[in-house]
Amino acid sequence: MSFETLPKKATLQIDNQNLELPLVEGTEGEVALDALALRKETGVISLDPGYGNTGSCTSGITFLDGEKGVIHHRGYLLRDLAENCDFLEVAYLLMSGELPNEARYAQWLGMIKENTFLGPMLQELLNHYPVRSHPMSVLASVVLSLNGFYGDLGHEVFNGIELDAVRLLAKTPLIAAHNFRRKRGMGYIYADPDMGYAENFLYSMFSKRLPEERRKIMSEALEKLLIIHADHEQNCSTSTVRMISSSNANVFAAIGGGIGALWGPLHGGANEAVINMLEDIAMQGQDLQEVVRRAKDKSDPFRLMGFGHRVYKTYDPRAVIAKEVVDDLLVKLGVDEPLVQTAMELEKIALEDEYFVKRNLYPNVDFYTGIAYKAMGIPKEMFTVLFSMGRMPGWLAQLIEFRADDSRRICRPRQIYTGPEQRDFVPMSER
Ligand code: CMC
Repeated sequence: MSFETLPKKATLQIDNQNLELPLVEGTEGEVALDALALRKETGVISLDPGYGNTGSCTSGITFLDGEKGVIHHRGYLLRDLAENCDFLEVAYLLMSGELPNEARYAQWLGMIKENTFLGPMLQELLNHYPVRSHPMSVLASVVLSLNGFYGDLGHEVFNGIELDAVRLLAKTPLIAAHNFRRKRGMGYIYADPDMGYAENFLYSMFSKRLPEERRKIMSEALEKLLIIHADHEQNCSTSTVRMISSSNANVFAAIGGGIGALWGPLHGGANEAVINMLEDIAMQGQDLQEVVRRAKDKSDPFRLMGFGHRVYKTYDPRAVIAKEVVDDLLVKLGVDEPLVQTAMELEKIALEDEYFVKRNLYPNVDFYTGIAYKAMGIPKEMFTVLFSMGRMPGWLAQLIEFRADDSRRICRPRQIYTGPEQRDFVPMSER
């Protein structure tokens, strides 16, 4: 369908009433029906559970073509960014709209570095979480509590980027790393200003016990993995961030809520779930054909984790890069990870199976990332925290864009009520 050949409005007939609704076109040719006038003019609403057909906003940050497997940020292909940039460069692009030149990049790095610390009160706060808390619950709640330390976004420091966004980017890896260490009875490590973003995170977790050569190899891989997670338009957690912001809640409330949404195994929590699934298969010697059969069985809640996507109807382009990163990492670290073989065999069986072919179910970004994290010695329960670190600039960019949007209103979907009709109240003694 081409917008050029389309009339610029659609006519909807309800009963005897005709309503003309405008069609809207995006930069890459996607077309939407602007349904703003629908209820006002006809009393009818659109019903779209799971929002599969609902454009909740217009956005200039990320474009996805799920049929072709294309993703670009601010016009730049993800692959080009992953091959040529570091994570903070991509974060800057997402939030400010342009890639930084050398001077801006230096300034940007300086700002991040200035904020790469946890003050004594934050360290102390982290020490009080029960040791068994999942790292995602700690991350979400510490991020929410940052409001008590820093107030709210709104103080712009650099090309449209606010100070609290800088703080969140700088401090999230340290919150994750310190939580990892204190659970193991180890103390806080101060960041090294000479290290890059991913390297500092690994250093803050593993200290100098991780030899420099391995840390460098791992940080190179991690920078790429963070980049492929950096933004993914209106996914569940990003929509949550926008939804929370729409009530004018503060930035930490919005990002804390986004972290909560990401935690679920159908979204970011899938990277942990994939490794659990692959380890179960390996440990119990499960037959892969049987695993696929179970995933297809509608009476069995089991799904093939790391497969399928709302938008992609082909191989997730992020998964292609993640697989390359895994292959390269394992060779450079000299690690023999048997789960790679299991994952590849499982992928082959699924991709040849009629059920998966018919439904266009392909590996998504979470299918291979967990293997990379596992090879780095990062515990499974931290995998989704790494997704959060990667997604942070995307959440912040979407929040900045949303706050500046003149058409912004509180996000408040409607519903079609299906409960009992209005009825007479019955006093308790008569029920
Ligand atoms: N295993 C088996 N069947 C599946 C799977 C799967 N992983 N994913 C989808 N299906 C089936 C589903 O049962 C349905 O079948 P039918 O048409 O017969 O009812 C059909 O495929 C369409 O699935 P859906 O659940 O309607 O699709 P959705 O767009 O609502 O859900 C999804 C997308 C990602 C939640 C889903 O594919 C899934 O649960 N995948 C496994 C979890 C996962 O890997 N999540 C990570 C997503 S990528 C990271 C991110 O950005 O969030």
